[in-house]
Order: sequence, then structure tokens, then C-alpha cells
Amino acid sequence: MARCFVTRPLPGGSLDRLAAEHEVDLWPQHLPPPPEALREHAARADGLLCLLTDRVDADLIAACPRLRVISNFAVGCDNVDLAAVRARVIALGYTPDVLTETTADLAVALILAIARRLPEGMAAVRAGQWQRWDPGWMLGSDVHGATLGIVGLGRIGRAVAHRARGFDMEVLHTSRRGGVPLEDLLAGADFVSLHCPLTPQTRHLIAAPQLQAMKPTAYLINTARGGVVDQAALETALREGWIAGAALDVTEPEPLPTDHPLLGAPNLIVLPHVGSATRATRARMADLAVDNLLAGLAGRPLPREYGAP
Ligand code: DGY
Repeated sequence: MARCFVTRPLPGGSLDRLAAEHEVDLWPQHLPPPPEALREHAARADGLLCLLTDRVDADLIAACPRLRVISNFAVGCDNVDLAAVRARVIALGYTPDVLTETTADLAVALILAIARRLPEGMAAVRAGQWQRWDPGWMLGSDVHGATLGIVGLGRIGRAVAHRARGFDMEVLHTSRRGGVPLEDLLAGADFVSLHCPLTPQTRHLIAAPQLQAMKPTAYLINTARGGVVDQAALETALREGWIAGAALDVTEPEPLPTDHPLLGAPNLIVLPHVGSATRATRARMADLAVDNLLAGLAGRPLPREYGAP
């Protein structure tokens, strides 16, 4: 029997399967363990089931001599120091596929919400500002027939492209394996939707020059990671009208402090990182995260090992 540290209660009953085979040290709160607590608990563990809010860096890994497997409850693993994991030959599991469609749904919801001004319309109704039907009020932009630029044509990017075709959108993409150059995509798209992982190469991939290259009528959608966008540049872009608006499910930091300057920018939607947040998908993620941990602790290949072909 191995010892596992699980950094948060998870939806569904999958942790029971883990507890049936191993000793489970479960962080009982819905806020992440502070770094010292993460270190103290992980230091005694053979297996770690962590979330994207847990920073698994080289120092933490060095403090965990028994650690054999890390199971990250996310598809993005930018919270984990991959070099340190590889150097120690620790197996790293993650949760791709099970959240693809749900996250793609949210990207499309954000496209529609920012283009058709849904939050503004709702706020106007509640504030009593809806006085009569007016042909010139609350005008937005058409989604159907527009051009969508997908940055990162992985699983989620492809699922968004699939949905976009249902809206008769023209789809451009740029990715490591091909598509059009980023600058052409930025110049041609009415909606730019980000689906690349956060890596040293993609940090601030969308900064001032890229935002200036977009059409003034275009929108930026980010359901990937906050760090892909230079938020200070985005704030300027929105205030100065370089682009028409932005809809973000992810920010840096998360949560964004309520007095963060970005939140004062116009034509901006910010959601609390809910791309995969449906009951069914979060339960599937928990199942896969537990499957990865159980396999790693048993010395078997992980069902979904990060970096595996
Ligand atoms: C992930 O899995 O990386 C998402 O951002 C959260 O589901």
C-alpha cells in the first residue's frame, strides 16, 4: 500500500477507488494547500494527485524523495516543472480528451457572448436600462460567416473548428505543425481563439504587436492559459480600441484581484476558469486522474502519460 497526497476534494466517487488500494492523505479544503503544506504532505507521499493551482516545481520535487507518480488533474501541465520530473524519472499523468468537447463548448459560448454583448444586455435589463426595442441599441457582430483564427490546433482547437463550421465560419489556424503564419491569422481573423499550451515559447505570444496586428473589429478569446496573453498590452488594446473586445476564461494570476486594472477595461468578459466545469467532465477528469495514479503506483504504464506519443 502506497501513500498518496490528494490536494483537493474531487467531484464524483473516484477517490474511493484510490482509498480502496492506498492510504489517501486528502487536503480537505477547497482552496489549494499553501506551498509549505503542499511540501510537507507531498514529502511523505509516493503518489501526488494535484491541480493546476498547485505549483510542482523543482524545489518541491527535491523535497519528495518517495515520489514515483504525479497525476495532474488538468490537460495543461504548466504548473509542473517538466525537466525536474523527467530528471527524477517520475511518471506524470494528465487528463486530455475527457475535457475537449466541454472546453470547446465554452470557447464558442465566449465567442457568442462577446460578439452579441450578452453580459451587457443582461446587465442592462437588470438595471432598468431597457426602455424599448430600438433598432440601433445593443448592436453586436455576426458570428456566422465570420473568420475564426485558431492558435494551436490540438484537440480543443480542432473541436472549436468543428463547431465553427456549423456557424459557416471560415477557419484559419496556426500551430507548430502548420497552418498560416500567426501574423496572417491575426490580420485576417474576426475572432482569434487561443488553444496552445503555456510554455516558455508561448508566454506572451499575444502581446502589443500581435494585438495591433488584429483588425479593430476583431475579438480575442482565451480558454488556454492566462500567460499566453500579455494582459497589460490587452488592457491598452481594449482601452485604445486596437481590438473590439476580449473574452477570457483564464487570466494571470487566478483569481484576478478585483482591483486589477484589466477588469476596468471596456468590452471584456472574464470568467473564473470554467472551461471544463461541467459535472460530467469534472467527474471524468477525476476518474482519469485516479486511473493514472493507480497505474503509476502499480508500476504500469499510465493511461494518459504527459508527453507520451
Ligand atoms: C486544464 O485541464 O488544463 C483546464 O484548464 C482545466 O480543466
